[in-house]
Amino acid sequence: MENKCKRAYITTPIYYVNDVPHIGHAYTTIICDTLARYSRLIGLETYFLTGTDEHGQKIEEAAKKRGKSAQSYADEISGKFRALWDEFEISYDDFIRTTDERHKKGVQKAFEVMYNKGDIYKDMYEGHYCVSCESFFTQNQLIDNEYCPDCGKPTNIVKEESYFFRLSKYEDKLLEWYESKENCVLPKGKKNEVISFVKQGLKDLSVTRTSFDWGIKLPKSINDPKHVMYVWLDALLNYITALGYGDDEKLMKFWPATVQVVGKDILRFHAIYWPAFLMSLDLPLPKHIAAHGWWTRNGEKMSKSKGNVVNPKEVADAYGLENFRYFMLREVPFGQDGDFSQKALMDRINSDLSNDLGNLLNRVLGMSGKYFDMQIDSKDVEKFHKKELDEANAIFDSLQAFIFDMQLNRYLENLWRVLTIANQSIATYEPWAKMKEGKKDEAMALVALVANLLLKTAFYFHPVMPKTTQKIASVFGIKIDNDNYKKFIEDKTLLETTTLEKIPPLFPKIEKILMASPEPTTNKETPKEQIKESKDEGIITIDQFFQTKLKIGTILEAKEVEGSDRLLLLKVDLGEEKPRQIVAGIKSYYSPDSLIDTQVCIVANLKPAKIFGHKSEGMLLAAKDKKSLTLLRPETKVKSGTSVG
Ligand code: MSP
Repeated sequence: MENKCKRAYITTPIYYVNDVPHIGHAYTTIICDTLARYSRLIGLETYFLTGTDEHGQKIEEAAKKRGKSAQSYADEISGKFRALWDEFEISYDDFIRTTDERHKKGVQKAFEVMYNKGDIYKDMYEGHYCVSCESFFTQNQLIDNEYCPDCGKPTNIVKEESYFFRLSKYEDKLLEWYESKENCVLPKGKKNEVISFVKQGLKDLSVTRTSFDWGIKLPKSINDPKHVMYVWLDALLNYITALGYGDDEKLMKFWPATVQVVGKDILRFHAIYWPAFLMSLDLPLPKHIAAHGWWTRNGEKMSKSKGNVVNPKEVADAYGLENFRYFMLREVPFGQDGDFSQKALMDRINSDLSNDLGNLLNRVLGMSGKYFDMQIDSKDVEKFHKKELDEANAIFDSLQAFIFDMQLNRYLENLWRVLTIANQSIATYEPWAKMKEGKKDEAMALVALVANLLLKTAFYFHPVMPKTTQKIASVFGIKIDNDNYKKFIEDKTLLETTTLEKIPPLFPKIEKILMASPEPTTNKETPKEQIKESKDEGIITIDQFFQTKLKIGTILEAKEVEGSDRLLLLKVDLGEEKPRQIVAGIKSYYSPDSLIDTQVCIVANLKPAKIFGHKSEGMLLAAKDKKSLTLLRPETKVKSGTSVG
């Protein structure tokens, strides 16, 4: 991201509406939200776009499977994305849907421009198509002659009349672009992959389909009603139709995009097709296309069929939205994959946020309260702490480069070095000793140094944790906004004499894992994580053991969970008023009928979780190795609800 111009245009990919939002979508959106908040804070006029991708065969099939019309299904899921972003307080300026009239109009206009230029021609397409990736492949790109090289699912053979975009014509121009603009595709390793792909030669791209209907029709001037537009052509154009392409109003103001963040799986579309389309439209190219890595679970791709998808709302509800934002941005270097684990999330909250940041704030409040009646005065900071101040300012000044290079984790890592300086200076200068020695002005200078460093940190940290940092700044009576950014960050002003306001602790320690895992019975991680929590290498006390309430339950009902090859939905009597509903990953080992009226051992005090859309109110215990699984049961039948222990 660059800051030479006064404007910033930041985009997320538009999300397919074949599925509800998951942690991967939240990750892309949170990265962009952070960039947008940063741009606004430093005073750039910012436009942040997100939205949903609603056409194509994949959506048409998903809607059909649920007995809904494509439009009503798209309305429903698009609404869920929007509702989640609103709940997550994502600061988007526009939410585009590819079913919006403004979008359809712009796409038809773009098609017409490309066609009239001679960049689109009609021919026959013969090859393979992956509906899941909405992507064309040649026979020799497939795995075992059949499977998609990107997602591994079976492909379809397609033979149909199609319009083609002359992608091959833009091969050299694309290579020139990669060469002349060093950071046009980030990170650099990914850019090199794109370059070698293009160097292997680009084939013209099929940009219309005739075998289904759920898409944008060709412009009337072309008069070929059986064709609908290929969903990637339709979708990529959202980045300009949202700005008014076709109406041309705002377009020139925000285009070209400052940064377009995408996942690594869709980089090819954004770093090859998209700039080629733009060249054909004679529009400038985006400044940066930045590709992030994937979140995995126990090293595996998340997928509905594995039942291991992490629901971002559940994580935010359990651990706090802003803590979750911080974790996602800090934990993984941009561009690399990261494994989601509650243990890692807890560690970040407890160590970085609670210990480093929260404690520092408490210490400032404590010291100013104890020695100075809650006042701080910066007049002697330069005199006694020029070294620490200069060191911290050098770090602050280096931070922006990390944002512009999309290295958000390093931005945060370096910001934390300032907290280390602050914490260390308390240890080194011991203000309590200075007070005893009667050196009140020195003690005040130290407390004021730390207060100023904390306030400046809050500004730099604001785009990641907007509300929390606002609370930190409120301790010093300051509002985080662009005016104060200029004052405290650009002009490096120190706080005037201020009476500090006490606030409740911002980062209470998290003592134990708060969410039931998305994998109830075959969970490889949770038990290990819980054991790691004990300081004595896996040894727990009897009290810790009895925190887990184990009970015998009788299975009343069992049925398959639609769409899952692992899960069964059970109703289990635990001797309570109502039977519990439990989702268990035992379908490969037990038929539903064989379970009815049998007894099982249940973890009865797990926080309920939503698995595959079903509430799960407990977990079955089983002995398990790689090949087999057997449920733990009482030797003889006992009353439902009998305690185990
Ligand atoms: N509709 C297309 C994008 C069109 S943009 C013109 C699409 N949609 S998607 O919903 O499948 O994916 C949207 C984004 O979510 C992609 O950037 C993708 O990389 C990201 N993620 C999906 N699963 C992910 C993880 N498990 N981890 C991180 N991000 C991943 O592709």
